[in-house]
Amino acid sequence: MNKVVLVTGANSGIGLALCERLLSQDTEGLQLCLACRNMGRAQAARSALLTSHPTAQVALLQMDTSSISSVISAAQEIKLRYNRLDYLYLNAGIMPNPQFDLKGFFKGLFSSKIITMFATGEGILTQKDGVTSDGLREIFATNLFGHFLLIRELEPVLCHEGRPSQLIWTSSSNAHRSAFNLEDIQHQRGTQPYSSSKYASDLLSLALNTHYNKQGLYSSVICPGFVMTSLTYGILPSFPAFLWTLLIPLFWLIRIFTNTFTLTPYNGAEALVWLFKQKPESLDPTVKYQSLTSGLGNNYTQARKMDIDLETSKALYEKLLQLESEVRKKLKRKVK
Ligand SMILES: NC(=O)c1ccc[n+]([C@@H]2O[C@H](COP(=O)([O-])OP(=O)(O)OC[C@H]3O[C@@H](n4cnc5c(N)ncnc54)[C@H](OP(=O)(O)O)[C@@H]3O)[C@@H](O)[C@H]2O)c1
Repeated sequence: MNKVVLVTGANSGIGLALCERLLSQDTEGLQLCLACRNMGRAQAARSALLTSHPTAQVALLQMDTSSISSVISAAQEIKLRYNRLDYLYLNAGIMPNPQFDLKGFFKGLFSSKIITMFATGEGILTQKDGVTSDGLREIFATNLFGHFLLIRELEPVLCHEGRPSQLIWTSSSNAHRSAFNLEDIQHQRGTQPYSSSKYASDLLSLALNTHYNKQGLYSSVICPGFVMTSLTYGILPSFPAFLWTLLIPLFWLIRIFTNTFTLTPYNGAEALVWLFKQKPESLDPTVKYQSLTSGLGNNYTQARKMDIDLETSKALYEKLLQLESEVRKKLKRKVK
C-alpha cells in the first residue's frame, strides 16, 4: 500500500532535501504532497524531483501556514484527495528580520553559557516580528499555530487505530524555555519569537502525544542542526558576497569538530528521514531527534532530552484550543 506523505515548506531547504531523500529510498511506494506557500517555487521543486525520479507521484498543494483561511481550505482539499495521511512533516518556518545582539554576545562571552551560546545561538539572535491579517504574531502563526490548526483539521485522515500516523516537527536547538512565556504564547512582548515558537512546538508535540496516541497518532520533534539555507543566510543578509566566501570554508572547518554543524540540507534532513523508518510507538515523546554529521562526513541521529514538562505542555495545549475557538469565531463573522 502506498504511503502518503505531506511536507509543509517543501519547496526549498530542508523540506525539499527531505522529499528528495525519501524518493531516493522508495520511488514507487510513496505519494508525496508538497504543501507550499509560493507555488512558483513549488512547481520548480516538483520538476526537480521528477527529473531525478520520473515515475514518482508528487502532488502540489497551496497553503500559507500563517493564514487561518488558507490552512482551513488546504485541509479541506487534503481530505478530498486522501483517505489517510501516514506522515505529516510540519517543516515550514520563518525567522524574519534576524538581528545579531552584540550586547547579548559579549554578556554570553563572559558567562557560563558561552558554549550553549555558540552551539544554539541562545541570547544572541533576536527578531522583529510582524502581525498577520488574522491579527496573530507572524512567527507564532507560521511556525506553530497554522500547523496546530492543520493537525486539528486533519484529524479524520490522521487518526486511525491499528495503523499509526506520524507528525514530525522541524524544531531547533534554538528552542529555549527562557524565551517562552505561557502568559504570552505569541511572544508579543519579547525579542525572541523564533526561539519561543520552537520551544512551543516541543511542548505541543508532547501534548499531542498525550492527546492522540490512543487514536493512533504520534508526534516527534527533530533539530536539523546548523544548515545553510535561505533561513540562515537571512541572519546576515547585509554581508557582502566576499565575506560569505570567507565564512563558508570556516564553517566547513568548524564542521569537522562540531557534529551539529550539518551545513547541507541533505545532512540536516537526516533525523527526518530516520524517523520515517521508525515504529512511532517505540519513540520517546520527551526527546528531540538531532541530525548530526561526524567529522568524516557520516550522518546519524541522536536522541536528546528536551527541557519540557507535562504540565506546561498541557497548559499550552489548552491555550491553543482557546485561541483556535476565537479565530474560528472571528472567521465566521468575516464570512457572514
Ligand atoms: N537552517 C537551519 O539551520 C535550521 C535550524 C533549525 C531549524 N530550522 C527549521 O527548519 C525548517 C526549514 O527551514 P530551512 O532552513 O530549510 O529554510 P528555508 O529554505 O527558508 O525553508 C523554509 C520553508 O518554509 C516555507 N514557508 C515559510 N513561511 C511559510 C508560510 N507562511 N506558509 C507556508 N510555507 C512557508 C518556505 O516557503 P516560501 O517559498 O513560501 O518562503 C520554505 O519552503 C524551519 O522550520 C526552520 O525553522 C532550520
